[in-house]
Amino acid sequence: MKPKITDLENLALGAGKILKEGYGGKIQIDMKGKIDLVTEFDRRTEDYLVGAIRSQFPGHKVITEERGVIQGENSRVWYIDPLDGTVNYAHGVPIFSVSIAYMENDQVVMGAIYDPMQAELYVAERGQGARLNGRPVRVSQASALDQSLLVTGFPYDMHTNPVNNLDHYANFAVRSRGVRGLGSAAIDLAYVAAGRFDGFWEIRIHNWDIAAGSLLVEEAGGKVTDVRGGPDFISDEPSILATNGRIHSQMLAVLQG
Ligand code: IPD
Ligand code: CA
Ligand code: CA
Repeated sequence: MKPKITDLENLALGAGKILKEGYGGKIQIDMKGKIDLVTEFDRRTEDYLVGAIRSQFPGHKVITEERGVIQGENSRVWYIDPLDGTVNYAHGVPIFSVSIAYMENDQVVMGAIYDPMQAELYVAERGQGARLNGRPVRVSQASALDQSLLVTGFPYDMHTNPVNNLDHYANFAVRSRGVRGLGSAAIDLAYVAAGRFDGFWEIRIHNWDIAAGSLLVEEAGGKVTDVRGGPDFISDEPSILATNGRIHSQMLAVLQG
């Protein structure tokens, strides 16, 4: 059975409610790596989402950040990040989201991102446009990199792995109006879709971070590729460049320079 966009909306709102209830309280935090955390609310929210999806859509495959792959039909796949912005959440910084994508035959067809602190629900359905709290959104009009506001993030092993995005960060910082780091890739993409940022890139990211947001950007009139300009940003080695379309080639030139 195929989900409806309202199913994704309800899942995102339900997950956001759990995250908001836990935010700011005393929460259990475990370390996954040197700076990579997981909180009890990553797990609780994921339990809620996996339980709801598996009961409503029993045969579907579900891929989540904390549990990995829950086997099902390969042509119907959900990518779930129950809490995108875990480090912010653990530090009491109110910038985090839940990201839910539904794919058919390797193509994202529906996506929802919910930021419970701003009460902002972003949804997109392929061919139907992107909406924020029910209103259509469009990417920005900026056409020059030096008039663009950008956003990025860094991999958790940046202390030890030299492929850490600091080179690209430095190159864009001196060629743009600024490069922000919000700490939630899903919010970064939602903001590109809404025209708040003009471009977002990240290397060595994960499919659950970008699946829903990539559809939002495309449906809002923007362009999404990997950082080499290719179409396979959702892959075994994901990277992403998501822009308003107008500055895409200028950003690609910097990434390749
Ligand atoms: C992280 C955030 C961050 C991005 C990292 C992600 P998490 O996700 O999206 O902005 O830079 O690459 O791993 O760990 O908070 O779900
Ligand atoms: Ca994430
Ligand atoms: Ca996460």
